[in-house]
Amino acid sequence: MNFHTRKWVKPEDLNPNGTLFGGSLLRWIDEEAAIYAISQLGNQRVVTKFMSEINFVSSARQGDIIELGIAATHFGRTSITLRAEVRNKITRKSILTVEKMVFVNLNEQGEPAPHGRTQIRYADELFEAYRRDQRVVEAPAASSDDFNREEAAEEAAH
Ligand SMILES: CC(C)(COP(=O)(O)OP(=O)(O)OC[C@H]1O[C@@H](n2cnc3c(N)ncnc32)[C@H](O)[C@@H]1OP(=O)(O)O)[C@@H](O)C(=O)NCCC(=O)NCCS
Repeated sequence: MNFHTRKWVKPEDLNPNGTLFGGSLLRWIDEEAAIYAISQLGNQRVVTKFMSEINFVSSARQGDIIELGIAATHFGRTSITLRAEVRNKITRKSILTVEKMVFVNLNEQGEPAPHGRTQIRYADELFEAYRRDQRVVEAPAASSDDFNREEAAEEAAH
């Protein structure tokens, strides 16, 4: 699982108990997962269809730095299923897990549409697909010799 996005817990994110408000966390994780789904499916028209039980494992406090992780667990015909986890960036202590988040790929009419994807695409493949779609002629400076597969894997879908 890649933990890309970091958040700094601020006063406006707290509940009356002085810990991170669950609604703030869910908003962040839904957006993070949506961005992942959009990147993987190459379509901005994706909607959250389903979220499984949400386990608020432990609380976060003002000043904590937390990180949001997403992994694809299944590619359906029109849907993609993700797993999400939020943890403390320093201690790595788990804060929240969502075992299953389903996003549906829509067409221009807002109906479920096949996305044609069967597996995770990494940053280089996503960039190539974007270039093809945009018919970009010039590629950026990095040559394939410089390309580091490990770094690319880390960049999966972001
Ligand atoms: C998303 C929406 C168009 C899907 O409509 P639908 O009639 O359920 O569509 P389908 O039955 O064809 O299902 C579409 C996909 O969702 C999956 N799905 C449907 N209900 C599901 C559920 N309860 N749990 C998990 N997956 C589900 C189906 O398996 C299918 O995936 P697949 O093609 O990969 O097999 C419709 O439910 C909708 O507009 N919902 C509101 C979305 C929304 O506003 N979200 C919040 C803001 S982003």
